[in-house]
Amino acid sequence: MEEQNIGEIVELLKNSKRVAALTGAGISAESGIPTFRGKGGLWEGYPVDKVASVEGFEEDPELVWKFYDERRVNMKDKKPNRAHEVLAEMEKYFDMWVITQNIDSLHTMAGSKNVIELHGNIWRFKCTVCSYNEMNYETPLHEIPPRCPKCGSLLRPDVVWFGETVNEVEKAFEIAKNSDVFFVIGTSAQVHPAASLPFIAKDYGAKVIEINIESTPVSVIADYILRGKATEVLDSLFLRLQEALQ
Ligand code: APR
Ligand code: ZN
Repeated sequence: MEEQNIGEIVELLKNSKRVAALTGAGISAESGIPTFRGKGGLWEGYPVDKVASVEGFEEDPELVWKFYDERRVNMKDKKPNRAHEVLAEMEKYFDMWVITQNIDSLHTMAGSKNVIELHGNIWRFKCTVCSYNEMNYETPLHEIPPRCPKCGSLLRPDVVWFGETVNEVEKAFEIAKNSDVFFVIGTSAQVHPAASLPFIAKDYGAKVIEINIESTPVSVIADYILRGKATEVLDSLFLRLQEALQ
């Protein structure tokens, strides 16, 4: 990681108020949660359209619930890592927002208060008919597919499937348009509208900083690229930032 970059980024942050971070599966990789598109990625084992779409759910709710039940079982003992922790600690120094594509709750578990879960949350279920919803941490589920205790209809994971509207997208765009610094951490920037946020932020004057182990479509517009693992990059950046803010 270039020394000069870090020094400049610390200077930049010292003179910034509003900081945002768009995060993807890569920030949770070091917590042991598989990413989607890397080798051995999640989507390799499953036909995405069958397990992450409304049509797939209507066709075979059992298969979809088996897929999410398996992910919940694998996720249950996973903890936030140093990258999640740094973003949470940054709330002390900045008007800080995390806009995440992840459904694993690790940002909230790490202590971040200002979090937008664009793609929902795997620990929340909602009814397919009435307004019932619940946080549910049962792993594995004793009943598949689970049913609504209020009206008996099928429950579904409260996650955003392909083709569905993403949560709080206007708010996410507002934050991107008003940020001084916009981090893009651990995302392949393939899925919209999340992937448009860094470009919007840039258009509205933010400095864009990409933290990733590989290059992505965001790399071409990033003002800084910190090539490396999110935990290591954020830990050393935060150390330098705290020294500068003393
Ligand atoms: N540190 C930093 N970046 C990492 C690390 C790491 N330790 N490990 C992996 N990465 C990067 C990869 O290089 C890749 O660019 O994280 C990114 C993960 O990309 P994806 O697997 O495509 O995950 P994501 O970008 O979050 O996918 C977006 O697509 O499938 C849908 O809804 C799903 O939210 C998901 C969305
Ligand atoms: Zn119901």
